[in-house]
Amino acid sequence: MQKIYVKLKEFPRRYDIKIGKNLLDDCGNWTKNCLHAAPAKIVLISNTKVFGIYGEAVRKSLEAQGFEVFVWLMKDGEKYKNFRVLECALEFICEKKIKRTDTIVALGGGVVGDLAGFAAAIYLRGIAFLQIPTTFLAMIDSSVGGKTGVNTESGKNLIGAFHQPSGVLIDVNTLQTLPRRELTAGFCEAVKQGAIANRKLFNQTAEFLKNFPLNRFKKYFSDKNFLTSLENLLAAQIAFKAEIVMQDEREDVGRTDAKSRKILNFGHTVGHALEKATDYKIFKHGEAVGYGILVAGEIGINTGVFDENEFNLLRDALHSVGKLPETRNINLQRVFEAFSFDKKTIGNSLQWILLEEIGKPKIFRNKDIPKPVIERALKKILQK
Ligand code: NAD
Ligand code: GLY
Repeated sequence: MQKIYVKLKEFPRRYDIKIGKNLLDDCGNWTKNCLHAAPAKIVLISNTKVFGIYGEAVRKSLEAQGFEVFVWLMKDGEKYKNFRVLECALEFICEKKIKRTDTIVALGGGVVGDLAGFAAAIYLRGIAFLQIPTTFLAMIDSSVGGKTGVNTESGKNLIGAFHQPSGVLIDVNTLQTLPRRELTAGFCEAVKQGAIANRKLFNQTAEFLKNFPLNRFKKYFSDKNFLTSLENLLAAQIAFKAEIVMQDEREDVGRTDAKSRKILNFGHTVGHALEKATDYKIFKHGEAVGYGILVAGEIGINTGVFDENEFNLLRDALHSVGKLPETRNINLQRVFEAFSFDKKTIGNSLQWILLEEIGKPKIFRNKDIPKPVIERALKKILQK
């Protein structure tokens, strides 16, 4: 079992992220410890699929500790992370007469976590919130830090709030049922985090992928070595994300240094544009980021800031996460147009995160990168 401590400077707060095996059965006890309060009401938010697999174990454990549990389930999918569904969740929370001393628990991937966290942020102007992430992506990324929110017609995650959880519980066993494509998408984000963090995390991630190929992931769960490596990788990935969040909790718009939250957007400028240009129908978010990383690497080479050998390391790591969706028929003009409404352009000019080397991200203004360089990189990576 491992613990990562998140300490926040604003109104000093801290919480733990606990990582281990078979933790769901004891999540009632964990909840009690996180809240430092007598058991009260809990709204357990999940989706039909995840609740079907893990929901009863969580509910039983919470009830065994004296919590009164109300379950609210959303339909499964990114398209349900919207205002209408949020409103239904909030109506349910109101009907159950949830008080400020009560808590919302999110059980699921990033979609459930984002919507449940946003509900917790705005209900009674903020009540306690706990996260039990069940996808690899949610474990290393979306459950670490206070960003919560929903999508609108204009774009993804444009409406939301910063609302930190009071604790995060990661049971690695839940990854046994995660579909292969979701693993691939999550590991694209892991390669991204390794690439912007340092060589150690990058190598640890690449080594893990080499030692435990994702196409056999489920079979390894009886192997102690694998479980230790998986816990260590999760802990290292989460520690890196937590370190960024701790010193730039709300993504200070003025910051452009290599520790700013903005560096987490490595691969995301193109990633978001690819998702938007294909109407969110072709890519999982992580898969689009996988291509985004390669395009950013290619732009880095063409502007002379990144080295070809380093790029090959990135490409090899991404290669071992598995096959990404075909991109040859994507309309590049639509991808280009999609840059113009990336959320990073609002009140700010579009920025590119490039690498000078593995572990050395740097933020560039769009105007510093010639348009033909971007076009060439898109063509090379997406249409070869
Ligand atoms: P997701 O929540 O849609 O989950 C992916 C799929 O896996 C779903 O079908 C889900 O039902 C299923 N699933 C989840 N856990 C499972 C399990 N253990 N076994 C079997 N199936 C399981 O996708 P995601 O990749 O977890 O999250 C993506 C979302 O996270 C996006 O909305 C993205 O915007 C958001 N996100 C938010 C932040 C943030 O800072 N708040 C950061 C990164 C991503
Ligand atoms: N919720 C994840 C983040 O704040 O980055």
